[in-house]
Amino acid sequence: MSIIILAIESSCDETSAAILKDGRVLSNSIATQEVHKAFGGVVPELASRAHQQNIIPVVDEAIKTAGVAKEDLSAIAFTRGPGLLGALIVGTSFAKALSLGLNIPLIEVNHMQAHILAHFIEDPMPGFPFICLTVSGGHSQLVLVKDYLVMEVIGETRDDAAGEAFDKSAKLLGLDYPGGPLIDRYARQGDSQRFTFAKAKIPGYDYSFSGLKTSVLYFLRQQLQQDGDFIKNNIHDLAAGIQKTIVEMLTEKLVLAATDYGITDIAIAGGVSANSGLRQAIEDLAGQHQWRTFFPAFEYCTDNAAMIAMAGYYKYRQQEFVSLDIAPLARMPLI
Ligand code: KG4
Ligand code: ZN
Repeated sequence: MSIIILAIESSCDETSAAILKDGRVLSNSIATQEVHKAFGGVVPELASRAHQQNIIPVVDEAIKTAGVAKEDLSAIAFTRGPGLLGALIVGTSFAKALSLGLNIPLIEVNHMQAHILAHFIEDPMPGFPFICLTVSGGHSQLVLVKDYLVMEVIGETRDDAAGEAFDKSAKLLGLDYPGGPLIDRYARQGDSQRFTFAKAKIPGYDYSFSGLKTSVLYFLRQQLQQDGDFIKNNIHDLAAGIQKTIVEMLTEKLVLAATDYGITDIAIAGGVSANSGLRQAIEDLAGQHQWRTFFPAFEYCTDNAAMIAMAGYYKYRQQEFVSLDIAPLARMPLI
């Protein structure tokens, strides 16, 4: 009999639902919340309300696009955490209610684990063990992936996530939220050597990005005193310099970990893995270090329910189900 999973993702500002049949994605519907743009960041209360409005239409669309009947579903997987609590509650409650109504099992999924399992949605797929650099708006982790559901965090950020570093720097440049993709776009035509920013020196495989925004802030303040149009006139080079700094911080630790652990299959996951500068830098390193590199398709890099369904599928095969008294977790360790 086929395994058909309905997955729900509502951890941040994307409401998403997907259907997976025997490990293959049949649909992946996403409603992106535009309401946060005006605020320069995700407003938790507004995110919860938007999830509440979007969840039924998004699930309905995912089921219709997949061409399955609700009665054919084997289980419902949902993001339990980490994320915004009010946002997670919407997806969790919906998943519970539907699982109760259809009398099918409920599967909890860790959002960060799902970002990594997005690598198993399409070919080519990494082989175990591999290292995954998971970089999103909320997390930056170096993960040693031993099996589908066996992962060890070997390094992580001590403060801001890489996506936050992009978004906060972008805000200082007067760019809209989320600024990461905009920095990426401007950086393509910029000279990354013109402006350099200090990189944090943290021992081991951990990261620290909070110093970058301060360094960008002080630099801009100084320049704006002499030229009020400094940002406008130098936006491409500024974006390129900021991107280069973040990318170098990320890749330096990645090289260190891969060398120490003797790993040659290298994957990146999370929203920041869509960054063209990061992809290029990892491709260049692959040549030097004989790595095989893996990047998910763009649609599976940022938040989506297809990756939640993938995690749900592996858990279903192990019969890892949860009871209806489960509660979402704003913080949730990877394992
Ligand atoms: O994984 P994700 O969609 O949501 C979280 O779980 O956080 O990641 C969102 C983050 C945002 O900070 C966004 O600016 C960043 O990913 N991002 C990018 C790019 N696309 C998305 N950062 C740099 N370059 C990009 N092309
Ligand atoms: Zn995410």
